[in-house]
Amino acid sequence: MPTEWLSGTVIENHHWTDQLYSLRIHAPGVTFEAGQFGRLALDIGEERIARPYSFVNPPDSDSHEFYSIIVPEGPLSSRLEALNEGDAIWISPQGVGFFVLSEVPDSDSLWLLSTGTGLGPYLSILRTADPWKRYKKIALVHAVRYARELTYRDLIEELTQQHKEQLTYIPFVSRESSDGALAGRIPAAIEDGRLAERAQMAFDSERAQVMLCGNPEMVQDTSSLLRNMGLARNRRSAPGQITTESYW
Ligand SMILES: Cc1cc2nc3c(=O)[nH]c(=O)nc-3n(C[C@H](O)[C@H](O)[C@H](O)COP(=O)(O)OP(=O)(O)OC[C@H]3O[C@@H](n4cnc5c(N)ncnc54)[C@H](O)[C@@H]3O)c2cc1C
Ligand SMILES: NC(=O)c1ccc[n+]([C@@H]2O[C@H](COP(=O)([O-])OP(=O)(O)OC[C@H]3O[C@@H](n4cnc5c(N)ncnc54)[C@H](OP(=O)(O)O)[C@@H]3O)[C@@H](O)[C@H]2O)c1
Repeated sequence: MPTEWLSGTVIENHHWTDQLYSLRIHAPGVTFEAGQFGRLALDIGEERIARPYSFVNPPDSDSHEFYSIIVPEGPLSSRLEALNEGDAIWISPQGVGFFVLSEVPDSDSLWLLSTGTGLGPYLSILRTADPWKRYKKIALVHAVRYARELTYRDLIEELTQQHKEQLTYIPFVSRESSDGALAGRIPAAIEDGRLAERAQMAFDSERAQVMLCGNPEMVQDTSSLLRNMGLARNRRSAPGQITTESYW
């Protein structure tokens, strides 16, 4: 029978803001495909509390990174936030889920749309060879409430430098004005053409694939808008253009 849990050790807990943090965990033997999530767990009282978290690191590494937000009164996220270097944590041995490029058809362009911590799986995917071989243009979109929540900027800058012709990074900040960021929400900027204009890419059923990750209402609202524009949900039995992952 496969082991349900591996024992990991926290290497680093990086705090980006009061609410946002990234945990790096040493746990040899964990396998996954970029875009998938694993489960993290802590023993709290008599219970083992587990939740899914997307891998931020690319596969084939002994340490694994997870990007999380503290949910006030959430049983696990606030405890993960308090972990320090050397602390023990449980991690599932295998990644799971279909939010992976091997499930996404080829096309000219690839939209990677996220809110909040939904940025994470794209940072794993973009550090593999696959996207750069299969899509001519890629837009990485990160929508947050406040500019300070536009995290992982150094890594994103490195990726855009490495793939100047292919990758465009587009931040959104919805609750304050921020230089260089689009204002408001993703669906509104698709509807009025601001997002396509900024990326110089279209939401076109013949030429684009769209991945959506994070806030379930964003995933829902954006998917239904895209369906009205002629795109279809991507299923194994009926390939389409919209592939989604909702975090709650
Ligand atoms: C497939 C999958 C992958 C996930 N990957 C991640 C990840 O990489 N990073 C991450 O932070 N979370 C991720 N989550 C959410 C995560 O599993 C937990 O739900 C979250 O960390 C809160 O845990 P909790 O026990 O404190 O509260 P919970 O009881 O699990 O959640 C309570 C409430 O918190 C809110 N919430 C949950 N997750 C988030 C979030 N990410 N951002 C904003 N509000 C949220 C929702 O309103 C939810 O109902 C993922 C969820 C799923 C289903
Ligand atoms: N971020 C914080 O400062 C903060 C503070 C306290 C607690 N929290 C905790 O974190 C959770 C929120 O996580 P988060 O900060 O990642 O925020 P979020 O509510 O998921 O917002 C992230 C981005 O998604 C946008 N969005 C929300 N609903 C959308 C929709 N239907 N369509 C398109 N875009 C949409 C938001 O725009 P809008 O701004 O227009 O909603 C924002 O730009 C809360 O539930 C709370 O538990 C966060």
